[in-house]
Amino acid sequence: MIDIRLEEMTRRFGRTVALDDISLDFPAGSFTSLLGPSGCGKTTLLRLVAGFEPPDGGRVMFDGETIADPSSQVPPERRGVGVVFQSYALWPHMDVEGNVAYALTARGVARSERGRRVRDVLATVGLDGYGTRRIEELSGGQRQRVALARCLIAESKIILFDEPLANLDMHLRAAMVEVFRGIHRRTGATMIYVTHDQAEALALSDRIAVMDGGRILQIAPPTEIYGSPVHEKVAGFVGRSTILEGELVGTSGGLAMLEVAGHRFAARTTDTARRGRACVLLRPEGLKLAAEGMQARVISSIYRGPVHEVRLQISGSDHSVVLDCVDAPPVGCMMHVAVTDAWVVPAP
Ligand SMILES: Nc1ncnc2c1ncn2[C@@H]1O[C@H](COP(=O)(O)OP(=O)(O)OP(=O)(O)O)[C@@H](O)[C@H]1O
Ligand SMILES: [Mg+2]
Repeated sequence: MIDIRLEEMTRRFGRTVALDDISLDFPAGSFTSLLGPSGCGKTTLLRLVAGFEPPDGGRVMFDGETIADPSSQVPPERRGVGVVFQSYALWPHMDVEGNVAYALTARGVARSERGRRVRDVLATVGLDGYGTRRIEELSGGQRQRVALARCLIAESKIILFDEPLANLDMHLRAAMVEVFRGIHRRTGATMIYVTHDQAEALALSDRIAVMDGGRILQIAPPTEIYGSPVHEKVAGFVGRSTILEGELVGTSGGLAMLEVAGHRFAARTTDTARRGRACVLLRPEGLKLAAEGMQARVISSIYRGPVHEVRLQISGSDHSVVLDCVDAPPVGCMMHVAVTDAWVVPAP
């Protein structure tokens, strides 16, 4: 198992700062997902770890040993890192088996052993019996799974994934999520996983790192990223959310008391001494329609199965909130929204 450490790592392309002074530790055997908007630097980070890009500043360390800094870099083939990138980079002239077995052939693994391992790994990714197909005879999703198999067979101690499931349908994605969990459990490899799918990140990882503009906004376990985001952008990026502005007016039993549109409720906070204006995060499951609460008008209702997603405009505020109801109230009617859980977004 290998510990990956990034220290003050910076990467520029002309005037674009793709990675801006990132310091981050990926403990040995951890599974970290990288989430963030397009262009925030996720692929660049992976490329630096794999060795396809040099850092302009800072260093990459494996188990305490510097393997890349601006003056010298260990080449990719000597890092022992497995990668599955957005583009699959398969060899079109070889069949599936040839592509998947490549790492073993290069290492001189005997033919019979190779054959067995290729069959095993193809079964793992759901491509049983596809060994002799040519790459151009495969669909996009099948090619993606070949790329995955090719990476898995090498049994690397570090595996980097850049949206490895992007071309798969929902069912296959769900099945592959289970495959990843199994591989991680079995191999104990240190894994970094880039995805646009936050549900996937929440389901798969020990930790999620949310990036924006070449920086890390927060790195924490999924429950913390979802429930206690340190930044409005993190809150907005993961899960359904509403951020309201309110007034911190006091404390009660370790919770902050907030006033929003004339209504008071308690919210979790890191700083009970804070007073004045603050942003509060409301998730659908922390809200309910009740006899008392913020006055609000139903403005839309969408059936999501098994519940209706209901949006309500809060009276005396520009904001609307979203919650889930089994029985949807009619659009236009006035209701009360009670807050059962809320989070005060820490001051920047
Ligand atoms: N080879 C390159 N030359 C110039 N600019 C680049 C290069 N590679 C990346 N960039 C720029 O660096 C920034 C980060 O790019 P990167 O590919 O890491 O983003 P990303 O988070 O992976 O985005 P996406 O989710 O769209 O894949 C972007 O502004 C991009 O345009
Ligand atoms: Mg990318």
